[in-house]
Amino acid sequence: MSKIGVIGGSGLYDMKGLVLKKRKTVTTPFGKPSDHYLLGEIGNTEIIFLPRHGKRHDIPPHKINYRANIWGFKKLGAERILSISAVGGIKKGLRPGDIVILDQILDLTRNRKSTFYDGEDGVVHIDFTEPYCPELRKILQKAGRNVKVSLKNGGTYAAVEGPRLETASEIKSFSILGADVVGMTGMPEASLARELEICYSGLSVVANYAAGISKRKLTVAEVMEAMKDTTEKLKRLLEETFKLIPDERECPCGEALKEAKI
Ligand code: HPA
Repeated sequence: MSKIGVIGGSGLYDMKGLVLKKRKTVTTPFGKPSDHYLLGEIGNTEIIFLPRHGKRHDIPPHKINYRANIWGFKKLGAERILSISAVGGIKKGLRPGDIVILDQILDLTRNRKSTFYDGEDGVVHIDFTEPYCPELRKILQKAGRNVKVSLKNGGTYAAVEGPRLETASEIKSFSILGADVVGMTGMPEASLARELEICYSGLSVVANYAAGISKRKLTVAEVMEAMKDTTEKLKRLLEETFKLIPDERECPCGEALKEAKI
C-alpha cells in the first residue's frame, strides 16, 4: 500500500480522523524537520502527517527547514504529498474560505535552501514545467465532486519570502504576472519534492483578501478563523481523496531524475 504524506499549514496542526500508530522523530543530513511525523491510518490508507510550522506554530515561513521536512517524508516512504496552505486571494472572485487546487507557481522567495543538489552528487536540473502532480490534481477534483466540496480548479501560487505581508503594489504586480493567490511556504517545498521524485499537490485555502484587494487591514486572526472554518470541509475532501488514490502512480513525478543529471 502506498503511503501518503500530508503537510498541514496554518491552522492545521493535526490530522482529524487519523488513527494514530506512531510518532516518529526523523533525523536528516539537513537538520531537523518541523516536528515529529504522525504515522497512522485513515480508512485503508497509510498517512504520514507533518505540521510545517510545528504543532505549536512556532516556526515562521522563512525559518522552516524545507529540505529536512521533505527528506523526512522520503525516508518514511511517502510517494505522494498533499500540501495544505493558507493563502491570500488575489484573483477577482476568490473569497475567504475558497479552496484552490494549485497548478502553477511563481517563485518570488529569495533566501532559502532550495535544492538537494548542491553539486556534490552531480549537477541536476529537474523539469518543473508542471510543478504539481497532474494525477493528484485530477484526483482532488474528482474527490471534490464526490463529496460536494466546491473547489477552484487551477491557480497560480506566488511564493513570497515573508514573514511580513505584502504591499498593495506588490500584490498588483503579482496579479499582472499571473498570480491568483499568495503564500509564504509553497516554495521550495514543491521543487524539493520533485527532486526526490515524490508527487506533490497543493491545496490552498483562501484565508484573506491579499493586500490592497480589500480596504481592511490584514490580521492574523482572520487567517486562523478562515482556516478553522474550512477544517470540516478539508477533512471530508481528504478522506475521499485518499480513497481515490491508486497504489501505482501513472504520472511522470516518479521519474523526475531521469535525464535531469549532467
Ligand atoms: N500573503 C502571504 N501569505 C499569506 C497570506 C497573504 O495575504 N494569507 C495567508 N498566507
